[in-house]
Amino acid sequence: MGAHSIGSARVENSGYKGSWSTSEGVFDNDYYRQMLTRGWGPDRAVEGNKDRNQWKTVDHGPPGIMMLNSDLCLAYDNNSLHQACMEKHNFNNRKCKNLQNKGKPINALETQCCAWTHKGALFNKGVFDIKNGKADLCGKKIPSRGKESRFLEVKNACCVNQSSESTGDCDSSQWPKGQSFPNILTFAANENQWLESFAQAWKIATENSHLDLHTLVEYQGDEDDYECGKLRTRKICQTRSHMCSWYRKSKPDDRGRFRFHCGLESLDVEKHKREEAMRKKKEERDERNRLKKIAKEEKAKKRAEEKAKRQAMMEEKKRKRQEERAQRQAAKAKKNEERKARMNKNKSKKRSGGLMDQKPESP
Ligand code: HEM
Repeated sequence: MGAHSIGSARVENSGYKGSWSTSEGVFDNDYYRQMLTRGWGPDRAVEGNKDRNQWKTVDHGPPGIMMLNSDLCLAYDNNSLHQACMEKHNFNNRKCKNLQNKGKPINALETQCCAWTHKGALFNKGVFDIKNGKADLCGKKIPSRGKESRFLEVKNACCVNQSSESTGDCDSSQWPKGQSFPNILTFAANENQWLESFAQAWKIATENSHLDLHTLVEYQGDEDDYECGKLRTRKICQTRSHMCSWYRKSKPDDRGRFRFHCGLESLDVEKHKREEAMRKKKEERDERNRLKKIAKEEKAKKRAEEKAKRQAMMEEKKRKRQEERAQRQAAKAKKNEERKARMNKNKSKKRSGGLMDQKPESP
């Protein structure tokens, strides 16, 4: 069921809605951690469909994730008798011990209750690191001991948003009685343990009691966790290139040959050296290109500056030439005027001299 950690439910597929974990898409144990470290209440008639009832978080933490009956029933029972007894005895668990195992599987349609786990189980079984002193439980920082970690304090954090019709806790929250609660605790505390158990369960589920199954490729004896050694050819090995790589063995065979084989990618020293060299080369190339680009930019800048300078000089020359031309034209015009004036003077002189030479008419 922990595989639900990677996926989500969609109304258009199953009628259920939401993700099981906050790390959707990651194959981790978050599904188990969410199941135990959040407070859960029924979420009835998903998108108006009365036949689809699931569980939502009702605690202080961020909303948005969900569980199905078939998920929560692994950890929690529905035990209203125990809850009634707890309320009657002011949540003194000792008085209600004989009722702890009287629950039925949890069901969102039939049950209005809050499913949560108290901090003791979580700190003691390593879901929370006791050395840190505090842990995020139901969206609040709960210490491993002290006033803030008392039963009612934590219950309030985990069930703060439960429905007003809620009858209280679904199960004995100190140690819920769902069939697999101890396993859920183990898987929430230790991801590797879960992955191991998952691999075993997967093998059983997929082989489905067929005893005559055999591997497609012979086991080669190069042991690694991922069993890359079983992949006999380079081509098959390349299909698992995220984990396996085709490289020479570090030990020679009985004839002294260092043969190629499929091994864990992380142990492919030569490949890592190659990659390192390529990375370095790329870095150098990038640096060279960067310097080239800077030089090119500087050159272009210089060229633009020189062009601007040349243009300014040409403008200046043009301006001077125009000035000189204007001066020359002015001088020429002046000269012309002077000549004209001189000519007019001469003319008028001539005219007055001619009149003087004439004899006056006799009366
Ligand atoms: C009682 C057993 C189970 C029930 C009732 C159940 C129910 C569901 C439902 C209702 C969905 C949502 C489908 C959708 O709306 O798209 C779902 C999704 C999924 N289930 Fe289960 N499941 C069960 C067991 C398992 C197991 C054993 C595995 C794997 C080992 C598994 C892996 C998944 C995955 C990966 C998804 C997400 C698919 C996606 O994101 O598209 N489930 N399951």
